[in-house]
Amino acid sequence: MDNITYPHITEYIESLVGETGLGHLEKYAEENSVPIIQKDALGLLLFMVGMKRPKRLLELGTAIGYSAIAMALESPHTMITTVDLNAGMKERAEENIRHAGLSDRIEVVLSDCMDFLKGDHDKFDMVFIDARKSHYMEYLELSLPLLNEDGLIIVDNVLFRGLVPDGEEFPRKYRATVSTLREFTRTVSEREDLSSAIIPIGDGVAFIRRKPNV
Ligand SMILES: C[S@@+](CC[C@H](N)C(=O)[O-])C[C@H]1O[C@@H](n2cnc3c(N)ncnc32)[C@H](O)[C@@H]1O
Repeated sequence: MDNITYPHITEYIESLVGETGLGHLEKYAEENSVPIIQKDALGLLLFMVGMKRPKRLLELGTAIGYSAIAMALESPHTMITTVDLNAGMKERAEENIRHAGLSDRIEVVLSDCMDFLKGDHDKFDMVFIDARKSHYMEYLELSLPLLNEDGLIIVDNVLFRGLVPDGEEFPRKYRATVSTLREFTRTVSEREDLSSAIIPIGDGVAFIRRKPNV
């Protein structure tokens, strides 16, 4: 993964985050090229989850269950619904969740995120968006109605490999992702009804909430 900031800063922050207790999942992800949240960004995500202690948390993009397990361990009363369209990932995630003893608090749903978001659901206190980057605008629009009034949306990869700032050159294959993320970051910062912050950690993390009474 390309760094969006200085490698020695990332390494230093990751060393401070230290052992997650999920080294076996980090090793599996590395060996099998499964994209999981970077450890420095995980530290920030867990801080927010621990501070907010959401009752119901929705994660878009499960992979092997790494971030879902880490969030469940950080906040012992949080119920997590995590969505992935890859049946192999769902199976692997469920096995990892079972091993972690968290099957009663993490539900893995096999679905395209868009289909899931269009369904009927109780509201969530937090949404962590980490699925297909070229669909981030739709995920945002569809997540907002599912969010409690003081809910928080956290989005990973919003600075995607450092290619999102205007003027960066990038390979053709990244065109849809980069243009969506440019639109996404501009939109969340310009929308009157939203308050947002982007942190250059990991692959870029955005915090988004609805402004009260707008
Ligand atoms: C970056 S990984 C998630 C990593 C995980 N959140 C973690 O940090 O441990 C993204 C996942 O999103 C899933 N995905 C991609 N597009 C999707 C879609 N349209 N609907 C549901 N899942 C999708 C992929 O199968 C992949 O497992």
